[in-house]
Amino acid sequence: NGTSTYSIACIPADGIGPEVIAAGVEVLKTLSEVSDFKFQFEDYDWSSETYLKRGQYIPDGGLESLKKHDAILFGAVGAPSVPDHISLWGLRLAICQPLQQYANVRPTKILKGTQSPLRNAHTGDLDWVIIRENSEGEYAGQGGRSHRGMPWETSTEVSIFTRHCVERLIRFAFETAQKRPKKHLTVVTKSNAQRNGMVMWDEIAQEVGKHFPDVTVKKMLVDAMTCEMVLKPNTLDTIVATNLHADILSDLAAALAGSIGIAPTSNLDPTRENPSMFEPIHGSAFDIAGKGVANPVGTFWTCAEMVRWLGQEAAADRLISCMETVCGNGVLTRDLGGSANTKEVTDAVCAEIKKQS
Ligand code: NAI
Ligand code: MG
Repeated sequence: NGTSTYSIACIPADGIGPEVIAAGVEVLKTLSEVSDFKFQFEDYDWSSETYLKRGQYIPDGGLESLKKHDAILFGAVGAPSVPDHISLWGLRLAICQPLQQYANVRPTKILKGTQSPLRNAHTGDLDWVIIRENSEGEYAGQGGRSHRGMPWETSTEVSIFTRHCVERLIRFAFETAQKRPKKHLTVVTKSNAQRNGMVMWDEIAQEVGKHFPDVTVKKMLVDAMTCEMVLKPNTLDTIVATNLHADILSDLAAALAGSIGIAPTSNLDPTRENPSMFEPIHGSAFDIAGKGVANPVGTFWTCAEMVRWLGQEAAADRLISCMETVCGNGVLTRDLGGSANTKEVTDAVCAEIKKQS
C-alpha cells in the first residue's frame, strides 16, 4: 500500500486568483505532510495577461496537457482589460465543456464564527448543496447577432436542453441527495413560462426519481426558490437547477451564508474519464487584488472538496474542521467582519492542521 501522489494542475489566472491559490497550495502541502499522500503541483500561467500577449488563453495542446493531471485547481478569470464574455469563454468554459465536467457542485453553509445576513439563520440552519448543469442549457453558446449597430439589430441566445445531459445531471443530483442525511432534493425549473426545455426537466426528474424512492423530491419555480432560500433556509438541502438558474441561486446562497469569499465549486466529470476542476465560487475581485486581504476560505473549502474527490475523505474532513475552528476562533478577513489578512488566515489554518494531527 504505497503512498499516493496526486498530480494537480494549478491555474491561478487573474486578480485575487494567484493570491488564494498560493494560500490553497500552502494548506494542501501542510495537509499532505500529516497524511499518507503527496501532491505534485504544476503551474499553468494561463490568464488575461498571457491572453493579451499571445492571443489565446489556452495554448495549442493545452487541454491535452491538462488531461494528464488528477485534478485542476483554478483561481478566477476576468480582468478589466478583457471583456468578461471573452475571458469566461476563453478559459473557464473552454476547460469545463470539452472535459465534460457536467456537474457543478456548490455546497454552502454558515460556518462557525461567521454570521448570515438573515436575522434568524445560524450555523446549521443553512446547509445546502446546489448542483448546477455545467455543459449546456443557457450557456451552450448557441445564438447570433445580426444588423450590428442598426436600430433593427437582432440577437438570440438559445438555450439547449438535451435528454442525455439533463438526465445524467439529475441522476447525479439524486445520488448526491441520497448520500446526505436529509435525503431531500429540490428540483428548480421555470416550467410555467418556459414550456419546452423546462417541462422536459420536470418530466426527467420524475422519471429518474422513481429509482430513488428514499429521496424526497420537491419541485419549485426559480422565482419562488429565491423567496424560499431567504425565508425558510432550513427546508432546503440538495438543489438541482439549470446552468443559468443555479449560477444565480448559488451566488445568493453564498451571500446568505455570509460571504462570497467562503464558498467552493467543483466542476466534476462523474465518469472520471477526465480530471475534474475545483475553484472558489468568487471571481477575480479586482477591487481588492494585490492587497493581500482576499478571503482564502473559499479556496480552502475548494481544496477540501478536491481532496475528497481524490478519495481522501478523512483528510478532506480534517481540512474543513481546521478551517471551521480558525473561523470559530475569530480569525476572519474583512468580508466576514474581521481584520485578518490572507496570510494570517492561511497560517492559522496550517497551524491548526499540525495541531490536530
Ligand atoms: P467577484 O466575486 O470577483 O467580486 C464580488 C465582490 O465580492 C467584490 O466586492 C469582491 O471584492 C468581493 N470578493 C470576492 N471574492 C472575495 C474574497 N475571496 N475575499 C473577499 N472579498 C471577495 O465578482 P465580480 O465583481 O462580479 O467579477 C469580477 C470579475 O471576475 C469579472 O471579470 C467576472 O467575469 C469574473 N468572475 C470569474 C469567475 C470565475 O472565474 N469562475 C466567477 C465570477 C466572476
Ligand atoms: Mg456566478
